[in-house]
Amino acid sequence: GDQLTFPLMLAVGTAVIGSLQFGYNTGVINAPQKIIEAFYNETWNDRYKDNIQKTTMTTLWSLSVAIFSVGGIIGSFSVGLFVNRFGRRNSMLMANVLAFIAAALMGFSKMGASWEMLITGRFVVGLYSGLSTGFVPMYVGEVAPTALRGALGTLHQLGIVIGILMAQVHMYSGRFCSFSHHLGVSPYLCAVYCIPSISPHHPVFISVNKCFHVPLVLKKLRGMTDVSADMQEMKEESRQMMREKKVTIPELFRSPLYRQPIAIAIMLQLSQQLSGINAVFYYSTKIFEKAGVQQPVYATIGAGVVNTAFTVVSLFVVERVGRRSLHLLGLLGMAGSAVLMTIALALLEKYDWMSYMSIVAIFAFVAFFEIGPGPIPWFIVAELFSQGPRPSAFAVAGFSNWTANFIVGMCFQYVEELCGPYVFIIFTIFLLCFFVFTYFKVPETKGRTFDEISAGFRQTASGAEKHSPEELNSLGADSQL
Ligand code: GLC
Repeated sequence: GDQLTFPLMLAVGTAVIGSLQFGYNTGVINAPQKIIEAFYNETWNDRYKDNIQKTTMTTLWSLSVAIFSVGGIIGSFSVGLFVNRFGRRNSMLMANVLAFIAAALMGFSKMGASWEMLITGRFVVGLYSGLSTGFVPMYVGEVAPTALRGALGTLHQLGIVIGILMAQVHMYSGRFCSFSHHLGVSPYLCAVYCIPSISPHHPVFISVNKCFHVPLVLKKLRGMTDVSADMQEMKEESRQMMREKKVTIPELFRSPLYRQPIAIAIMLQLSQQLSGINAVFYYSTKIFEKAGVQQPVYATIGAGVVNTAFTVVSLFVVERVGRRSLHLLGLLGMAGSAVLMTIALALLEKYDWMSYMSIVAIFAFVAFFEIGPGPIPWFIVAELFSQGPRPSAFAVAGFSNWTANFIVGMCFQYVEELCGPYVFIIFTIFLLCFFVFTYFKVPETKGRTFDEISAGFRQTASGAEKHSPEELNSLGADSQL
């Protein structure tokens, strides 16, 4: 049952529209500040017949940028709450409503002459993005056949990077210089917002919770008549799901059984964000300017293209090479690129050609990111946990990711002022620490069923500590022993 059928592609393809919107709204953070500031100023003038104060402007601008991640933190943390209460199907439906509200708020903010609408819109789309970073990889992980779980899981990241690229191209193609376009409401993007609710193959209609173990749906997704092996695994999963009670976030941290997988999930999220990737995606134009690049804007778009290309590379190799090796390779390559970047910035005064070196360094940094640290942390959470704790695990992982994202976004510019060309050394140190952690702690999950993976963790846990029989029971350990 390892075939990529059309219905499966359609199901996954529609789900990752959420990822696309997350990416787009990440990309616009880099938007020409001036256009939006001009709008704020104009509105202020109309309302109060006075120019806006510089400090007020800075506050409004920072708020517009940061509130997206605040929404993301809250949204991602609520993933378990939603999924456990309303199920996967209804949760996704509700999230779509948020996307519409956000699009309307941002789209009409200019007409309404209201920055409050714009900022609220960014908050709401942040909520939506936070929810998507849980729902999408969880859903995709669950519908994918074992041998394609990594490749399909990478599609979430592919959606994100295409979204970023769309925003970058939008920003700089003169035709779209009206500010509402920058904030995610171009006409075709509006069309994109509508797709989830009309596609018959949207996950909403083939809910994992309710009818996914029905052979008919499975046959359709797998495209073959004999789905008995898959059925067996699904049955096993759903039997465990009944036996396995939903695990809350506090329980996740208390039980020794989950200690290792939750530590891995959190560390991988942190490795993704503290690698410094969003220093590039939020501030690349400024970085290139400082590095003496003649056309910083093209270099930024170039980074977006490299970003997309290498996500595709990862998609094709992840099932062969494995998650662990790719993540290790990515972290090490990023560390090397960060050193190269530091050298380029430090020697800029001496050698002119160092500005080219900085482009090479940033492109390599981004390429290595997408080989592993970009896609893998998102989808590995589904692999590390069985049904019971999965939603809570996604909430914790997403929360860690978005919080680190927020911190890097807020602090990078200040730290850069302090450290000058040596700012990337900080990321190098983080990257090397995460390399060591991954090397010693992260197991390979490629080609293993959910069952085999959690059995592996159970063994480690029972080797380290004793736990109560009902704890073991709730994990379906009896079927293993
Ligand atoms: C990952 C990160 C996101 C980043 C993107 C860059 O999806 O979660 O924060 O902007 O990769 O491609």
